Amino acid sequence: MVVHLLAFLLIVSFFSSSESSIIDQPTLSFSEGFHPLYGELNVVPHEANKSVHISMDERSSSGFRSKLMYVHGYFESSIRLPENYSAGVVVTFYACNNQKFPYVHDEIDFEFLGHIDGQEWLVQTNFYGNGSTNRGREERYVLWFDPSEDFHRYGILWTGNRITYYVDHVPIRHVIRKVDSNSIGADFPSKEMRLYGTIWNGSNWATMGGKYKLDLTNYGPYVAKFSNFVLNNNNTGSLIWNENENEMMSEEDTRHMRTFRNKYMTYSYCYDYKRYAVALPECVFYSDEFAHLQKFDPWTFGSGGNKASN
Ligand SMILES: *[C@@H]1O[C@H](CO)[C@@H](O)[C@H](O)[C@H]1NC(C)=O
Ligand SMILES: *[C@@H]1O[C@H](CO)[C@@H](O)[C@H](O)[C@H]1NC(C)=O
Ligand SMILES: *[C@@H]1O[C@H](CO)[C@@H](O)[C@H](O)[C@H]1NC(C)=O
Ligand SMILES: *[C@@H]1O[C@H](CO)[C@@H](O)[C@H](O)[C@H]1NC(C)=O
Ligand SMILES: *[C@@H]1O[C@H](CO)[C@@H](O)[C@H](O)[C@H]1NC(C)=O
Repeated sequence: MVVHLLAFLLIVSFFSSSESSIIDQPTLSFSEGFHPLYGELNVVPHEANKSVHISMDERSSSGFRSKLMYVHGYFESSIRLPENYSAGVVVTFYACNNQKFPYVHDEIDFEFLGHIDGQEWLVQTNFYGNGSTNRGREERYVLWFDPSEDFHRYGILWTGNRITYYVDHVPIRHVIRKVDSNSIGADFPSKEMRLYGTIWNGSNWATMGGKYKLDLTNYGPYVAKFSNFVLNNNNTGSLIWNENENEMMSEEDTRHMRTFRNKYMTYSYCYDYKRYAVALPECVFYSDEFAHLQKFDPWTFGSGGNKASN
């Protein structure tokens, strides 16, 4: 464990020299950027509106959303998850436009899947474009820290060509709209979206496939804390990326991401051949990622499927 930690500290410190565009972005307070969305009584501003606590209790779950909609941008929040037993408690930070475009909505997600003492902490990423809800693109990863102990940064960079997910500025997933001649097409999120933060009851699926459920009586209310918001795009003044930039990450970032994925990824739809016999167009096959997943979860990624597309 100590060795793992050291390895990661090394990665993180190497990383901090690169992708400077997403680091040290100006932050917004909760009240500058957001409104309560539902469960208003459980959306409680803190530090003179700088941060917010959202909670789930017997009465209600809760959530907030951004005041503005954004086409592309870099979005980040520092988040601290509920402590102790939180099975069934889903906390999210995501971009979505299902209210404006109900049948053809776009979405880019971070979803935290609850936690049981002694188990790993898991986070899931996913996205949809133009209502592609029958083509889930989920990936899951173990976090290398306890996300309930302190605030950590979760970021989404979304441009016309790429989506990159970051945890504490380490890139963990990179989706390219067009890989060689393969294009995601309309499944790539393309319309303006709002940012959301929510906490809700996902007992029927979130923690170990729904095996462990909410326990409000003993552990409620569940509180998730959000602060240091970055909502950076066109309409907010400082444009941090170039729309025409190369969709590739630097070699260094790519290396950090590959190291992370080969160690911490626990699920990727790209290698789930029982689900998608032919990998979706944006998937790039890495034999080391595949080997890692097969070792971790032979039932899902084992020899049953055939390696489709390259
Ligand atoms: C916090 O935000 C609310 C709503 O915008 C406002 O009414 C209130 O005065 C703010 N409080 C502080 C301390 O800034
Ligand atoms: C978590 O559990 C510990 C030990 O049972 C307890 O001392 C602490 O108050 C709990 N924290 C919360 C936020 O419930
Ligand atoms: C989005 O989906 C709608 C409904 O299925 C379809 O009519 C439309 O052509 C799609 N848009 C694009 C850009 O493919
Ligand atoms: C949480 O969801 C589960 C499964 O859907 C349900 O059985 C349970 O009653 C819910 N708990 C609360 C407090 O809403
Ligand atoms: C900036 O906004 C304009 C108009 O809203 C849009 O056409 C353009 O694509 C945006 N640029 C970026 C980099 O998102």
